[in-house]
Amino acid sequence: MDNMKLPVHRWYRYSAGYSSEWAASLMQHWGAQKVLDPFGGSGTTNLAAQERGIESIGVEIHPMVARIANAKLLWTEDADELRSRVREVLARTMEGRPVVIPSSPLVGKCYPNADSLHVLLRIRDAVLEQGGRDSISELLWLAFVSIIRACSPAGTAQWQYVLPNNTKSRVAEPMAAFAAAGEKFASDMEQRRKVIGAEPAFASVRLDDARTLNQVPDGWADAVITSPPYANNYDYADALRLEQIVLGEIEGWGDLRPLRDVLVRSATQNLGRWKAAEALESPLMAPILDEFLPVYDELSEVRKTRGGNKAYNGMLAGYFYDNAQVFQALRKKTTPGAKICYVVGDSAPYGVHAPVERWLGELAVAAGFKSWSFSKVRDRNTKWKNRKHTHPLKEGYLWIEG
Ligand SMILES: C[S@@+](CC[C@H](N)C(=O)[O-])C[C@H]1O[C@@H](n2cnc3c(N)ncnc32)[C@H](O)[C@@H]1O
Repeated sequence: MDNMKLPVHRWYRYSAGYSSEWAASLMQHWGAQKVLDPFGGSGTTNLAAQERGIESIGVEIHPMVARIANAKLLWTEDADELRSRVREVLARTMEGRPVVIPSSPLVGKCYPNADSLHVLLRIRDAVLEQGGRDSISELLWLAFVSIIRACSPAGTAQWQYVLPNNTKSRVAEPMAAFAAAGEKFASDMEQRRKVIGAEPAFASVRLDDARTLNQVPDGWADAVITSPPYANNYDYADALRLEQIVLGEIEGWGDLRPLRDVLVRSATQNLGRWKAAEALESPLMAPILDEFLPVYDELSEVRKTRGGNKAYNGMLAGYFYDNAQVFQALRKKTTPGAKICYVVGDSAPYGVHAPVERWLGELAVAAGFKSWSFSKVRDRNTKWKNRKHTHPLKEGYLWIEG
């Protein structure tokens, strides 16, 4: 499962959702020629496809995540050129120019050592100065992005959230960390080139919405492998907040609103002013509505009795409505007889269970696919462990065909 041990995959830690080796062997087993990942994230599916000589398109709506994925796909660039540009950045950093410190209080909390922060920001400025110059400048950008957390003593949650009040013992020194990241990238580029060659299969990650897939040609894919957001209240907009603040792209949490509004609704934070009526009244929800409404109504009641009063009713309505749109879009972008694997987990917010795999399977069939089935991979009961319920949760593969 650990993609972080693999060349290029390991350049940035993101919640991949599955092992790249598993994805590569699945596409090969299928005899796939063109693989689409509508929730492409940091590019695991694209890299896996290249490893088997298969063409791929990933779609990702978080601009910074899409940029990370596309930077990884630049592993075909010249490794020695990257090494020399890393040295250029470090030389510029040593000039000791003044830096502008981001105003967000998170920066002070995450970087209590002012000297180290200044060096980090000088590296940032030297890297950004190279921005747009060529492909190597994207690799420098990713090398910098990849050290932002390592240079802070702040802890990181299970996934990517930052926890400034937790501290970790090993904190990297920015210049050494940047040099090490550059060398890791360069040696991975050489290693991957030895295995795959200098001209891998076409791979691209497009900044787009999985619900429309406008950037994907119609009838393009004969296979889809994807790990969509789970309906577990994880806010993807927040995943790179520290990185975006350090880079000066946002000032703080509030600036994430536009992104929250376009993500698939898998967290209450994504709902904003959106009203669940849009989902409940849509013909897209008709195939599951009779079963969904009691769950929705129960959540509407239960939330009144809970401290957080979270809108999990709206979150689930949005989740299934959005995924119904994803299946409609996938139907347009896939060939007849296409094979799909959706890695899914079910959900029980406030202890109210939603049979996610079955409802998604039914929505896929309503979109024009022929059949679905589910195979369980593991039990999973961590997320809601401390809540007052014992509903067993599972994770597995939703297979869709036709
Ligand atoms: C579990 S992650 C996928 C990780 C991916 N397998 C990888 O290798 O990094 C789900 C991704 O879906 C993205 N996402 C959420 N809403 C989306 C939308 N409407 N369109 C496209 N991507 C979206 C999130 O930003 C997140 O990166």
